[in-house]
Amino acid sequence: MKEYQYLSQEQVDQFLEQGYIVVKNAFSRDAAAQWTETIWIRLGLDPNDKTTWDRERIHMPSHKREEVVKFAPKAWAAITDLLGGEDRIDEKSSSWGDSFIVNVGTPDLEGAASVHPSDLDNWHVDGDFFVHYLDSPEQALLVIPIFSDIQPRGGGTYIAPGGIDLVANYLAAHPEGVLPTGCSFTPSTSKYSDPREDPGHFALSSVAKQCNSFVEITGNVGDVALLHPLMLHSASKNHLRIPRIITNPPVGLKEPFKFIRERNEDYSLVERRTLKALGKDFFDFKVTTERRKLMPRRAVDQNKVLEEEKRRLAAAGRT
Ligand SMILES: [Fe+2]
Repeated sequence: MKEYQYLSQEQVDQFLEQGYIVVKNAFSRDAAAQWTETIWIRLGLDPNDKTTWDRERIHMPSHKREEVVKFAPKAWAAITDLLGGEDRIDEKSSSWGDSFIVNVGTPDLEGAASVHPSDLDNWHVDGDFFVHYLDSPEQALLVIPIFSDIQPRGGGTYIAPGGIDLVANYLAAHPEGVLPTGCSFTPSTSKYSDPREDPGHFALSSVAKQCNSFVEITGNVGDVALLHPLMLHSASKNHLRIPRIITNPPVGLKEPFKFIRERNEDYSLVERRTLKALGKDFFDFKVTTERRKLMPRRAVDQNKVLEEEKRRLAAAGRT
């Protein structure tokens, strides 16, 4: 039996079955409070006056970063277990920042009936900054550190574990790579001006419709959800209007995932879960175009927001 630094056999089984685990108490409430101390100044909103909450969800830029091994050592141990060892991880692309994603809901949602998860409008797979292949190393796990206590109906991310199988098979059939086109993928070699007309276009909302089990990621400050990189997920509706605060830091690999390895025990748990999705013991996957990074519109917009946040912090005497 393979030895893990952090994962229990139960967590290994859960990851191979459901494609995710939650590491409880991976960082302290004090550390979280320090990181979120100036969040309302940065946002320019009043935490005690909901009428100032003018957007449902806000993606904030980051001002500072820290190594995961220092900030959340238990989460780092679990991450290295899932990815097959620290030496496979690109630490430069795996630090955490204070780029919070805040979901405060809207007045209409407060107390309203829940939307069925398959009807949520935001089903996607993370990674808007690279062309996706089955073995892409850029976003090797979907990581959700939790910075506010999240109750059911409180805006926690919804996941559709069954979606991993459908997404993995789609990517296996597209060695030319696919572009992240919002809540869909489109073959990177597409000649269509409207991606939706391409026969290879893959709408992730329709994948969610084919799933029959959904999980709402709830938890407490300091918990960290670790999900398979192909996990289909959606922002959800915050009916409680208790501000929901998370981040979504990527973790990158030095080399792409490998689906043929000499020794069985060398496959990482993520690789094993991907192979399970394909129904194969190994898979000879070779990309047919050059891997490339993309510059998402988000990154350009965030620079502007970062400057605004800095101005607000300076005006409040906080730098
Ligand atoms: Fe996401």
